[in-house]
Amino acid sequence: MDRWKEGELALLWGSARDQVLLVLQRGSQSVEGRGVLDLSGQIGELPGTTVDWAGRKYRLLRPALGDLLGSLQRRAQVVTAKDAARLIQLAGVGPGSRVAEAGSGSGWLTVALAFAVGPSGHVYSHDRRPEFLEFAKANVRRVQLGERVEFVEADVAERGFAARDLDAVILDLPEPWTGLSAASESLAPGGRLAAYTPTYNQLEHTVRSLREAGFEGAQAEELLLRPIEVGEGGTRPSFEMLGHTGFLLVARWMGPPW
Ligand SMILES: C[S@@+](CC[C@H](N)C(=O)[O-])C[C@H]1O[C@@H](n2cnc3c(N)ncnc32)[C@H](O)[C@@H]1O
Repeated sequence: MDRWKEGELALLWGSARDQVLLVLQRGSQSVEGRGVLDLSGQIGELPGTTVDWAGRKYRLLRPALGDLLGSLQRRAQVVTAKDAARLIQLAGVGPGSRVAEAGSGSGWLTVALAFAVGPSGHVYSHDRRPEFLEFAKANVRRVQLGERVEFVEADVAERGFAARDLDAVILDLPEPWTGLSAASESLAPGGRLAAYTPTYNQLEHTVRSLREAGFEGAQAEELLLRPIEVGEGGTRPSFEMLGHTGFLLVARWMGPPW
C-alpha cells in the first residue's frame, strides 16, 4: 500500500455518519463547518492510522468511488451510484478503456467512468451547454480525476464524438436516439452502446432506433435499491426506498454490415 503524499484526497472516517473528504496538506487546514485540523504528521504514513480531532477518534483512509460520489455537487438530474455501477458493467468499461459519454450534466457519471478506466484509460465527456461542462469539470477536478477526462463542447447529434475506435459510448440525453449515428461512427467493432433513460417512451424510441441503425443484442433493465435496516431481532426493509431512477440499456456495435 502506498504511503500518504501531500495533496492527495483522503477520507477522515469517524463513523458511517461522520466522514469528511479532504485534501491532505501540511500545516493547519480548515474543514468547512467543522473547524481546523493539522494532518502534517500523516504525510509519509500508511493509510488507516488514528487521528484525534475535536475530542473524537478518526481513521484516515483512501476514498473509494462511493466516497467520491458522495462529495459531488449536483445540478439537474444525475446518474446515481447504483445505476453508474451497473452501466459500467453493462458497457464493459474497465481499466484502460477508452469511453465517450454525452451529456456531461453534473459530471456524476463522468466521475464513475474516470474511476473505472483507471490511470491508463480515458473518458471523452461531451455536452452542448458550456455551463454544464464547467459544472462537471469542477466536480471531476474536486475528486482529482481531471487527468483522465477530456471535456468537449459539442452537440453530439450534429458534431459527433471527439474520438474513434472507442470501447464504449454512454448516452444520458433527453433524446438518446439522436446520438446513435455518431456513436456507430466512433465505436470500435464489438464496442458497446449504453443509455440511461428515465421514461418508457425514451426507452422504446431508443431501442427501435438502435435496431434501425444496425446495433445488435439490445437489452434493457431497471435496478431497484431497497436498503435493509439491520437491528438485533428487528431486521427489516427500510421504509425509504430509492424507487424509480432510470432504465439501463445496452447494445453492441459490430461494425458495418457484411
Ligand atoms: C441529465 S444531464 C446528464 C447528467 C449526467 N449523466 C450526470 O450524471 O451528472 C443531460 C445533459 O445532456 C446535455 N445534452 C442534451 N442533448 C445533448 C446533445 N445532443 N449533445 C450533447 N449534450 C447534450 C444537456 O445539456 C445536459 O447537460
